[in-house]
Amino acid sequence: MPTERTPAPEPREAHRRRFMIAGEHVILRAFEPQDVERCYRWMNDPNIVRTLKSRYPIAFQNEVEWLERAMHPSFTERHFAIERKDDRSHIGNASIHDIEWVSRTAWFGLFIGEPAAWNRGFGSDAISTLMRFAFEEMNLTKLRINIFDYNEKAKHVLTTHGFVQEATLRRDFFREGTYHDIVIFSVFRDGAPEASTT
Ligand SMILES: CC(C)(COP(=O)(O)OP(=O)(O)OC[C@H]1O[C@@H](n2cnc3c(N)ncnc32)[C@H](O)[C@@H]1OP(=O)(O)O)[C@@H](O)C(=O)NCCC(=O)NCCS
Repeated sequence: MPTERTPAPEPREAHRRRFMIAGEHVILRAFEPQDVERCYRWMNDPNIVRTLKSRYPIAFQNEVEWLERAMHPSFTERHFAIERKDDRSHIGNASIHDIEWVSRTAWFGLFIGEPAAWNRGFGSDAISTLMRFAFEEMNLTKLRINIFDYNEKAKHVLTTHGFVQEATLRRDFFREGTYHDIVIFSVFRDGAPEASTT
């Protein structure tokens, strides 16, 4: 029962967030060594690899070494594990890489590796969470991503977040016996300004 002497709650306490980078349904957290089994499984899953540039089977030790690098802060790239907010399970990975601090641009990549988590809004929420972090915390102004022309789902999700197809690298990637275009999707922090003609 509050009395006159009960201290008023700290206003800041009420707004204190539980996670550093939180979306509506996912959080982005740092990688931990125990994530390696899942990463190894996903990077050897043909359904995932089909959407990535990765081509060869990955040895467990390679994944251990990749994770070791991903856990260490780098000036030009940052890696995140994507977790569901409801059960805190690790469902995918994301990264912001090739960061250009002068131009304030970067590439990013992201996948939802757990099949049970597909088509439930987690990928879309992870993209908007990553965008918000890149623009509002890292002060980047433009993000880009490479997508294979056949990845209709990624194109759809990116478009819903304001990305536009900026360029096509024609017949740039050979897979399954044929060449595929790579399309570059990009988004600006402040919308899509017209390119200067002067
Ligand atoms: C792209 C990816 C991140 C989407 O994640 P997800 O959690 O499965 O997808 P979401 O549930 O958030 O969104 C799915 C949307 O795509 C739509 N969609 C599903 N299959 C589709 C298809 N074959 N073609 C077009 N749209 C499709 C759904 O209807 C839904 O649209 P809506 O939100 O307008 O209703 C995920 O499929 C993935 O990891 N792909 C492999 C890696 C990859 O492509 N990375 C690029 C990241 S953009």
